[in-house]
Amino acid sequence: MHRAVFAASTVLSAVIALTPSNAFAQSDAPADAAPAPVLDRTVLPIADPVRPSYTELDVRDTTPPKHFEVTAPKDAPNVVIILIDDLGFGATSTFGGPIPTPNFDRMANNGLRYNNFHTTSLCSPSRVAIKCGRNHHMANTGSIMETATAYPGNTGAIPNRIAPLAEMLRLNGFSTAAFGKWHETAPWETSVSGPFDRWPTRQGFDKFYGFIGGETDQWAPLIYDGVRKVNPPQRDGYHFTEDMTDQAVNWVKAQQSMTPDKPFFVYFATGATHAPHHVPKDWIEKFHGQFDAGWDAIREQTYERQKKLGVIPANTQLPPRPEDLAGWDALDENSKKLFRRQAEVFGAFVAHTDHHIGRLIDAVDEIGELDNTLIFYIAGDNGTSAEGGMVGMYNEMTYFNGVQETVEELLPLIDSWGSKSTFPHMAAAWAVAFDSPFKWTKQVASDFGGTRNGMVIHWPDGIKNTGGMRTQFSHVIDIAPTILEACGLPEPVMVNGVQQIPIQGTALNYTFEHPDASERHTTQYFEMFGNRAIYQDGWFARTIHRAPWKVDNLPPLEDDVWELYNAKEDFSLANDLAKQHPEKLAALKEVFMEEATKNHVFPIDDRTIDRANPALAGRPDLMGGRTSLTLYPGMQGMLENTFINIKNTSFTVKAEIEVPEGGAAGALLVQGGRFGGWSLHLREGKPAFEYNWLGLDRYVIEAPDALKPGKHTVTFEFDYDGGGLGKGGDGELSVNGKTAAKGRIDKTQPNIFSADETADVGLDNQTPVAKGIGYGPHETTFTGKIHRITVSVKE
Ligand SMILES: *[C@@H]1O[C@H](CO)[C@@H](O)[C@H](O)[C@H]1NC(C)=O
Ligand SMILES: *[C@@H]1O[C@H](CO)[C@@H](O)[C@H](O)[C@H]1NC(C)=O
Ligand SMILES: *[C@@H]1O[C@H](CO)[C@@H](O)[C@H](O)[C@H]1NC(C)=O
Repeated sequence: MHRAVFAASTVLSAVIALTPSNAFAQSDAPADAAPAPVLDRTVLPIADPVRPSYTELDVRDTTPPKHFEVTAPKDAPNVVIILIDDLGFGATSTFGGPIPTPNFDRMANNGLRYNNFHTTSLCSPSRVAIKCGRNHHMANTGSIMETATAYPGNTGAIPNRIAPLAEMLRLNGFSTAAFGKWHETAPWETSVSGPFDRWPTRQGFDKFYGFIGGETDQWAPLIYDGVRKVNPPQRDGYHFTEDMTDQAVNWVKAQQSMTPDKPFFVYFATGATHAPHHVPKDWIEKFHGQFDAGWDAIREQTYERQKKLGVIPANTQLPPRPEDLAGWDALDENSKKLFRRQAEVFGAFVAHTDHHIGRLIDAVDEIGELDNTLIFYIAGDNGTSAEGGMVGMYNEMTYFNGVQETVEELLPLIDSWGSKSTFPHMAAAWAVAFDSPFKWTKQVASDFGGTRNGMVIHWPDGIKNTGGMRTQFSHVIDIAPTILEACGLPEPVMVNGVQQIPIQGTALNYTFEHPDASERHTTQYFEMFGNRAIYQDGWFARTIHRAPWKVDNLPPLEDDVWELYNAKEDFSLANDLAKQHPEKLAALKEVFMEEATKNHVFPIDDRTIDRANPALAGRPDLMGGRTSLTLYPGMQGMLENTFINIKNTSFTVKAEIEVPEGGAAGALLVQGGRFGGWSLHLREGKPAFEYNWLGLDRYVIEAPDALKPGKHTVTFEFDYDGGGLGKGGDGELSVNGKTAAKGRIDKTQPNIFSADETADVGLDNQTPVAKGIGYGPHETTFTGKIHRITVSVKE
């Protein structure tokens, strides 16, 4: 502790000593004589200048001093980062894909395409790295927030020694706003008790409108405005992408209307095209028949177009699809029918997203700011997701609970695929097709299918040599330094009193006017759940430790086989040269060791399911070892990591309530939503417990009689069978200590109820868990009075 303080103050005094014009250095300046301070932007926040002391008695005898305010450098552009979720290199028309993305095309034609830009292969890590310019492990975000561990590099808590870009810009005179997906707050910090330091509004954003976790229902999202949970506007056909775009458009226009001289920074990260694939029906219809050729043909057609378009070199080979995935021709007609629809919905989702991004770009144009705005349009943070498994799923939560849906079960849902009644994902082979020309997908940090994403930079005032392509290796950590460079801002050495870990990325401005400039980002490691790789000077060594659809029986890490590629000659990593150049491979493995050590990548942690469990992962847990939680009215929006865990155990829910004259109805306590969860409620006055198993099976235990007016204690007890995860048990509902109903719950959800639906007292937000108590907060709110509800689990 002492040492850190000492180090910080040493830097501070060094900075002061080097900048004599700094306001700190001036002592009591006489009135009117203080020179205009030269702003030292390497220490943030910039200190107010020393105030002059006046001796004049009468204000009329003085000239008023200038108001001091930190303003951005004179020519600093506005900055917009657009980030689409879970989209691969070969999906968009801009990079040769089958899905038309006219706005991405437009940006590319007036800007620059980057075809050698890399992400980390997963969302939280890519997002954090984009916004701080350091490697994801360096920022403690080795993997996604929900799989944080005890180890440095993976704690899930971004250190204050790494101030985010938004904070740097805000403290340099920008207005800042984030819209859409966040996913950078550690799970145990998402409750009402905070701390809120790692929420968007304390990570440098003046404004936030979006969701805090990794995904959300697009039709019924969990939204925060700042740190306040809000309900989405009620309107027919509501869709979150449209809503967040409206918010961004309104904010940008208002900000420029109020302060036209003040630049803005907008981080616009859609929940699309991550699962659930929720898309308006008219958009889906536009894609009818577009994917009839099947995933192998679509992949090959994309590959041919990519060569023609020049976004991949002419000598690129198309590697075979991963062996686990079926060839299209081998499928039966029913499977083909289902899978085509999945791709139509996904294609529509991508196009719909690009359409709304276009509205944001148009708004910036409409207020005359487009030329002066540096836009990064990044199509994907980790490649197309293969988490849909072999046949896709109507409810993505089945993946996280290890339940395999079948073609026969899914076929009847074709017409509703993408609507409110589904939470869908597509078959993994589509992900490979949309990642053409690569072999692998999201989560595979050691293949370009997991890391290489199409990116466009658009900045008419700053880039003159437009319309071309840049092929230099680049990485998400290069974005932040590029922005600082473009804005004429130095990298801060100290932010909010804390000495900063140096930025690791390389500013990309050297490529703007010079397509052939020699590459400056020459070494980069990759690691995600044991998949690991190293890039250096055109060479790429990697090992595929696990495919995204494999969660258990992984080989020991030391048995992993490394491969070697000449990435400059072999764009898609089709030719393993490990046998030809063993000495090169050995040298690169050494480089990996060095980089991994330096960046806190070790020890490698390839656990997936176990890492989701705080106790096994070794990260803080808000509920810790607590066996009981008492809840009161007004408590709502509790995410799964900030609520007591009733999975894999016996539990009791005891509600002390009061029923008014005329009876009561509505939710007492719910967790989850339509795609999995449980609910204790009164239905037409009768106490009932409903267990909704992944939206696929429902178990209802209901009392025969409605409650009379007055005070009551409604208790539900669940006696778990035990013997492993996901088992069933016996349920008993009692009223005022007397048994009212008994029933069997055959199975339970083993791992997770929902990534965005929450636990709520006295209402059921978003989609309803139970059938028949209404939809949304207006219809499900309990009409009586709740004194308290206690949930207890067996020790
Ligand atoms: C990468 O994968 C994660 C985990 O599924 C996802 O939430 C995230 O949005 C993806 N990021 C991008 C930029 O595609
Ligand atoms: C790019 O940024 C560097 C500093 O990072 C600066 O020295 C250089 O002049 C810039 N180059 C171009 C071509 O703008
Ligand atoms: C499930 O419960 C059993 C028995 O209490 C326990 O041994 C096991 O660790 C639990 N598993 C998880 C993942 O919580």
